Amino acid sequence: MEEFPESTSKTLSRRDVIKGVIAGGAVSSAAYLFRATAVHAQGPASGPGAVERLITLDVNGQQRRVDVMKQETLATTLRYKLGLTGTKLGCDRSECGACTVLIDDVPHYSCSVLTHTVRGRKIQTIEGLAAADGTLHPVQQGIIDEQGFQCAFCMSGFIMATVGFLKINPNPTRAELAHGISGNLCRCQDYDKILTAMMRGAELQRGGAHVKRA
Ligand code: FES
Ligand code: FES
Repeated sequence: MEEFPESTSKTLSRRDVIKGVIAGGAVSSAAYLFRATAVHAQGPASGPGAVERLITLDVNGQQRRVDVMKQETLATTLRYKLGLTGTKLGCDRSECGACTVLIDDVPHYSCSVLTHTVRGRKIQTIEGLAAADGTLHPVQQGIIDEQGFQCAFCMSGFIMATVGFLKINPNPTRAELAHGISGNLCRCQDYDKILTAMMRGAELQRGGAHVKRA
């Protein structure tokens, strides 16, 4: 439990603090507004454990200023603060991969990364994959070519995981790619078609070379 300086604790009861934390966990700005009243008197980020809330993130090559609570996840920031809703929230507890984004070119579950820990790092979401002229990333094009998904809720997570995997293994076998993106789940369970689409994307990225067999 965060401790407040003596001057603050006189005006803020333990019950008030607990109420604020619960409200924050429900992805509400109410806790922030509530706490701001009491904490502002200390000046910016001056108390024990205090963090600067207004931070700059490098998202898809843009510097984005955003107000972030200290317990906020990257998925929440991307979707509800920056409007990047291509990143999906499935389980919200590191099980499904729907929220996968690249951080410094490595796939991560954004539902399980605190936004404050990625300051100064390069974040890439599905919205940042296509070229400025609208040309799709080869992995996106592979999906169009092969019609790889059903409802497609899991699609952006699979794409980001594949793009990240191809950075370290641009010419995988089908088995290698399946293993590389095995942290992503599809509720429609169309794994075979998904894998075919991703292999097509890998092939396009290499410039149309033949696909290696497993
Ligand atoms: S929403 Fe992040 S792993 Fe499922
Ligand atoms: S295509 Fe529906 S969850 Fe994957």
